[in-house]
Amino acid sequence: MNSIVVTGDRPTGQLHLGHYVGSLTQRLELQHQHEMFILIADTQVLNNDISKSQEVKKHTLSLMRDYLGVGLNPEKIHFVLQSRVPALFELTQYLSNLVSLSFVMRNPTIKNENKLYNHDLNMGFLNYPISQTSDIVLFNGELVPVGADQVPILEFANDVIEKFHGNFKCNVFKKIQPLLSSTPRLCGLDGNNKMSKSLNNAIFLSDSLKDLKKKINSMYTDRNHLAISDPGQIEGNVVFTFLDIFMEDRILLEEFKAHYQRGGLGDSYLKNILFDILSPLLESINSNGQQFSDSYLKEVLDEGTQYANQIANEQMNKIRDIIFL
Ligand code: TRP
Repeated sequence: MNSIVVTGDRPTGQLHLGHYVGSLTQRLELQHQHEMFILIADTQVLNNDISKSQEVKKHTLSLMRDYLGVGLNPEKIHFVLQSRVPALFELTQYLSNLVSLSFVMRNPTIKNENKLYNHDLNMGFLNYPISQTSDIVLFNGELVPVGADQVPILEFANDVIEKFHGNFKCNVFKKIQPLLSSTPRLCGLDGNNKMSKSLNNAIFLSDSLKDLKKKINSMYTDRNHLAISDPGQIEGNVVFTFLDIFMEDRILLEEFKAHYQRGGLGDSYLKNILFDILSPLLESINSNGQQFSDSYLKEVLDEGTQYANQIANEQMNKIRDIIFL
């Protein structure tokens, strides 16, 4: 049987083109080849800032709308609401006893995120690598698509699995394999190497065409390319970075690059080309997404979560038997 895919997202707001390139297109392919669980990590997201808990429901719905809008198929994928799978919490509690605080603190992702968010270290945050281990092993997950920044968390999960197997002399869990996206990370409108809502440099999948136009027009190009006839630079030019990822006609793209470097090709010409490429994509995601009512999206999530509970409870019974013999 094909390996099971488990992945997840924190519901923090609308998805943007960076997510589309980095994870959604990969999931669109995987859904045809593998059984897949996508967790909406509405418990994990509370680690960021629990005072924003009242926004989580809204973000969960908008995630579901974006998922179905891009073409993720609920007939093929189990969409799971993390907070509604009690066995996840139980397993996390057991696994916590196998992990020392210093081991968590040494994890590169934890170190980075701690620096990045600079929040008062709460227990929920420190426990999230363990909780994420539960997310994966409770559904027999083997392939786990994540961003590169999450790879140390999956290495951590494999260490926890090994500790569990060693301690209880068993072999119930599969070794986890990270699946990285083959597309390079999409930069932000400003050229920052990460597109992100909090950096205010993102094109959202739900943006209107008017917003798209405005955002493309604001893209960083080459600050020395003042007159159209000036030679321009490709490296670090956000418009070319986007064209590199989204433009299918590679021959024409190479011509554009040569012409731009020679001089004589204007930024606004290229920005119009990019708009013509991105607008049908956003339009189709949006019009697809809009056809689903809130109640339908909730139903899909409920169904996936119900199935997930069935699998999780079976797995949890096995685990309890192993721990308590
Ligand atoms: N930590 C992941 C992120 O922020 C989200 C996530 C939660 C996840 N549970 C998961 C990813 C399980 C993969 C598998 O992107």
